[in-house]
Amino acid sequence: MKTKKQVRELLENLSLPEKAAQLIQLTGNFFEGSGIETGPSMGVELPPEMVRHAGSILNVTGAETLRKVQENYLKNSKNKIPLLFMADVINGYRTVFPIPLAQGCSFNPELVKAGAKASARESAAAGLHVTFSPMADLCRDSRWGRVMESTGEDVWLNRRMVRAMVEGYQGDSLDTPQTVAACVKHFAAYGAPEAGREYNSVDMSEKKLLEEYLPAYKEAVEAGCALVMTSFNTLNGIPATANKWLNREILREQWGFDGVLISDYAAIHELMEHGVAETEDQAAELGIRAGVDMDMVSPAYGNHLVKLVEEGFIPEEMVDECVLHILELKNRLGLLDNPFRFDQETMDREQACLGCKEHKELAKSLAGESMVLLKNEGILPISERSSGKKIALIGPFADSRLLCGSWSMFYQEEEVVTLQQGMEEVFGVDRLLTAEGSFLLEKEEEFLPFKGQPITGREERERSGKTDEELLREAVGLASEADVVILTLGEHPQQSGEGGARTNLCLPGCQRKLLKEICKVNQKVAVLLFSGRPLAIPEVEEKAQAILQVWFPGTEGGSAMADILSGRMVPSGRLAMSFPWCVGQEPLAYSRLSTGRPVRPDQPNRFSSGYIDAPDRPLYPFGFGLSYTAFSYRDVRLDKKEFGKGEDFCVKGTVKNTGEYPGAETVLCFVQDVCGSTARPERELKGFEKIFLRQEEEVEFSITIKEEELRFITAEGVFETEPGIYRVFAGGETLEIRRKE
Ligand code: BGC
Repeated sequence: MKTKKQVRELLENLSLPEKAAQLIQLTGNFFEGSGIETGPSMGVELPPEMVRHAGSILNVTGAETLRKVQENYLKNSKNKIPLLFMADVINGYRTVFPIPLAQGCSFNPELVKAGAKASARESAAAGLHVTFSPMADLCRDSRWGRVMESTGEDVWLNRRMVRAMVEGYQGDSLDTPQTVAACVKHFAAYGAPEAGREYNSVDMSEKKLLEEYLPAYKEAVEAGCALVMTSFNTLNGIPATANKWLNREILREQWGFDGVLISDYAAIHELMEHGVAETEDQAAELGIRAGVDMDMVSPAYGNHLVKLVEEGFIPEEMVDECVLHILELKNRLGLLDNPFRFDQETMDREQACLGCKEHKELAKSLAGESMVLLKNEGILPISERSSGKKIALIGPFADSRLLCGSWSMFYQEEEVVTLQQGMEEVFGVDRLLTAEGSFLLEKEEEFLPFKGQPITGREERERSGKTDEELLREAVGLASEADVVILTLGEHPQQSGEGGARTNLCLPGCQRKLLKEICKVNQKVAVLLFSGRPLAIPEVEEKAQAILQVWFPGTEGGSAMADILSGRMVPSGRLAMSFPWCVGQEPLAYSRLSTGRPVRPDQPNRFSSGYIDAPDRPLYPFGFGLSYTAFSYRDVRLDKKEFGKGEDFCVKGTVKNTGEYPGAETVLCFVQDVCGSTARPERELKGFEKIFLRQEEEVEFSITIKEEELRFITAEGVFETEPGIYRVFAGGETLEIRRKE
């Protein structure tokens, strides 16, 4: 690796246009790699010198392709500074892990870290240097499509998961062929768009922002995340990409971030659409003044930075500062010494590691631990031994490969294990009766995917050649002959993800009809729910005897689901996001502030903070999740009665597996600051531990809570804890502790 001094010298040898070019990131079509476009194509036009010396390209992958791209680039470049290759490896590369929201439900940061490590290994072997992950945006509105990319609604869980991902991707050093640099996104508060509408503005008090929305990005920075991406939204009127307070004051000065700050796709150019810049050069000036180092796929920096400096609008040092961040990243990745991290050896590694057995096993474990059992009236698991008993496997996901979520772009469809394949393996072909039962979409439904033609209910029907009635009749026939029905329902993976905001969270009518008709002929129905967000499923709760939320479980999803259905794996996921009764409850989160007129179910009262047509609480709250086995707690206690500033306290106890299966229990520890100078949340998660227990096994747990984790912005505007009583909820107990004066 070069020394800091050598990197500085490199910078000093660059001409102004060469420096400006380092600050732009282009799509593959500027080079030889075609790549994938993940934003609106606006036909970026740039002078050839800018393209020749561009700093980075995105979403082009493959060791051989990238080697050629780098070789040709270096041939034409005067300064021989290699390109950076970045891509959206969100939940896996060739081996696809469950979507991030599902990973949040595993409550197993170690496993999530192992998944990120495997993704990094595959990505690096495919020639990549940077992944645009993790997404640390806190999400409390499941109308927003990108909730699938977050780890949910809780501050503490998000922090743990984001850290796990950064550590998994980056390992101990970026200068190894097994790691990639992580880019935490989207700074900041992109997860709170008004009304859940994609790219919409965010209006939020500074208190809420600092207490709830910023901590996960900060955690990523503290974990050493090499890049940060700005977000598309405005925050209290100022677009994040032009927000000096966020990017310079908070990120750089307060948090000490010294890595690369990259804009989101075309976000600098879009400052004109936001109406904060009249011209493209003004947009470029706003971006660089706000400290954005790299301009992702927009013509702003490439066309205007040089002139802005030459005409005295911005000092050259401002450009230098950004270039230095980028050169330092290239240096940390070892690229300044060896531009070809992807030599022959890398290509061999690519062959050996993509989709390898070890990664598949990991993907299966993570998929299994991410699934959440929402209801079970004793019909799951299904015994593998009752060979005479027929299982009807019905619904649009029964044999579907749409299991990887909207951001998975680099996997091979034929490698996805479908539920039917998984179940055949576990239960045997003879026990299964399979039928599609319903289309995925209503006939009139239509939406645009990331790329290509609209996805429509009409096209689904044309392709099938069958009518809704025919599919239904066939499935009802099978269900009436079967001993148990596995009914797969849900949304299309492209209905969530970027650009996947919805105003309707219900299952489509055709799927609801299927549920209703199947339940008429067979009571024993277990629904498997596939989605990228919490859906509103009151009729499923009412009719099905069991519900398993499986999200989009990834390439090994079919095997993981079959293992859970058979009891080979025991469900242990807990919801990382609350499920609403209906869309009108959104946004929805458990850690809400109490109002002056809370709903008291035992004292019905018109003048209470609820709805007249829906409950005030979720259908299934954050943290909810059942198991096949049972757990009991004893001796749940605190290790002290009081704590002071800077002191920790511990929640201790014993948990026992009293049921009939081995299984994992997640001990959740919530805290409530009973009375503060500002209103405080009803409860907040402050610690958790997932414990694996054999039958009859008993384990002591101890969860440490640090005083600093309980701090908030007081009425005086100070970030601290206040003296008084704190309630601790764990293992079914409510305990109290006093914060000393
Ligand atoms: C998304 C980012 C993504 C980028 C590059 C944008 O549209 O918001 O999350 O990393 O495209 O593909």
